[in-house]
Amino acid sequence: MQELNIGGKLLDEEQIAQKVREMAKEIEEEFEGEEIYVIGILKGACIFVSDLIRHLNCPVKLDFMSLSSYGMSLESSGVVKILKDLDMDIEGKNVLVVEDIIDTGLTMEYLKGYLTARKCKKLKICTLLDKPEGRKCDIVADFTGFHLPDEFIIGYGIDCQENYRNLPYIAYVK
Ligand code: IMP
Ligand code: MG
Repeated sequence: MQELNIGGKLLDEEQIAQKVREMAKEIEEEFEGEEIYVIGILKGACIFVSDLIRHLNCPVKLDFMSLSSYGMSLESSGVVKILKDLDMDIEGKNVLVVEDIIDTGLTMEYLKGYLTARKCKKLKICTLLDKPEGRKCDIVADFTGFHLPDEFIIGYGIDCQENYRNLPYIAYVK
């Protein structure tokens, strides 16, 4: 029974949907209507990126990367491994990285360096959720949906040992 370990709802479907629309507006303005190469970070950002791009009124190309820092553990190891690299060439392009949640920031710090080396025109980072108390480096996203306390978060694509990604709302684990 998957419901047993859900600690409490933090953000409901309407709060998330409203925020996604607001973020899409800000992103459109930042890129001034130019084409954006959106990179969704698997698997956690799959639902967020799908919702977000449907509110972007500008040309969009979509790609995915899969990174591993946690494995099956609940704590970030700080060691980032690329499990799936980009399919597209991003040199000279506007790039928007779309992440589900930033905690230690180590994954994003690594990714930022990795993508910067590919010489994109503009690189911006967007995260739906941020847990600033967990930070171990000074990464700040360019677009942040919600700041949350230092709890283990699930739902709306975000998992706990591969469970709960299908919850339409965001909750914490008991
Ligand atoms: P960071 O490197 O510690 O910033 O962690 C980045 C990745 O860890 C995120 O993309 C998530 O996939 C995962 N993560 C961080 N915090 C949580 C959480 O509270 N619940 C589930 N996954 C998390
Ligand atoms: Mg992730």
